[in-house]
Amino acid sequence: MTQELWTAVDRYFTDLLVPPDPALDAALEASAAAGLPAIAVAPNQGEFLRLLAQLHGARDILEIGTLGGYSTIWLGRALPPGGRLVTLEVDPRHAALARGNIARAGLADQVEILVGRAMDTLPQLADERHDPFDMIFIDADKPSYPDYFSWALRLSRPGSVIVVDNVVRHGAVIDEASDDPLVRGVRRLGEMIAAEPRVSATALQTVGTKGHDGFLLARVISA
Ligand code: SAH
Ligand code: DHB
Ligand code: MG
Repeated sequence: MTQELWTAVDRYFTDLLVPPDPALDAALEASAAAGLPAIAVAPNQGEFLRLLAQLHGARDILEIGTLGGYSTIWLGRALPPGGRLVTLEVDPRHAALARGNIARAGLADQVEILVGRAMDTLPQLADERHDPFDMIFIDADKPSYPDYFSWALRLSRPGSVIVVDNVVRHGAVIDEASDDPLVRGVRRLGEMIAAEPRVSATALQTVGTKGHDGFLLARVISA
C-alpha cells in the first residue's frame, strides 16, 4: 500500500513536471533489454540532479557509477557549452551500453567514460591535473563510498558540491550493528563526513518508485 502510493505520487509529479526526453526513455529501454538491473535514479530524481547542477552552474561534473548512462544523461543535460562530464564504470558491458545511450542523447562530445575500477581510474584522473570538478555524483559500489568521498575531496575546489545516492537503504542506515557491507560503507561515510571540517553536509530521505532511500549533499568549504 505504502509503496503503491509512493509510486503513484512519483508518477503524478513526473508526468506533471518532468519534460519528456526520448533519449532518456531510450536509455532505460536499452538498459532493460540488455539485462542491466533497474537501479538507475528515478526520472524526478534525475531532474533534481539536473536542476542542482544548473543551480550550481556546474561546468565540470564527475560521476562514479555509470550503469547505462541514465543519470549521466540527466547531469549532461545541465552542462553549458564547453562543459564536460567524466563518468567512471567498472563493467565494460555497462560502459558500452552507456556509450550508445549517451551518443543518442547528443552528449558524446561532452561525456567521457573511463572504464575500470574507480579506485584505479580516480588516481589517473588526479594525475591528469585538469580543473577541479564543480559537482561530483557518487553512485557506485556502496562499500567504497568512504574512499570515493576522499577522492571527491581531492578532485574538488572550495564550493564544489558532492551528492551521494542511496544513503538510507530502506532505513538500514540506522542499524549500528549491521554487518551488511553496503550499510557499513554508508555509515562509515557519515562518520567520516561528521569528522571532516572541510565540508558541510546534510542528508535527506526520499520515498518514491525506488522505495525508501535518500541523498547526501555536501558542500566543500576547502579542498
Ligand atoms: N548512476 C547510475 C546507476 C549506477 S549503478 C544511474 O543512476 O543511472 C552502480 C554502477 O556502479 C554499476 O554500473 C556498477 O557496475 C558500477 N560499479 C560497481 N563497482 C564499481 C567500481 N569499483 N568502480 C566503478 N564502477 C563500479
Ligand atoms: C540500488 C539502487 C541504486 O540507486 C544503486 O545505485 C544501487 C542499488 C538498489 O535498489 O539495489
Ligand atoms: Mg544509486
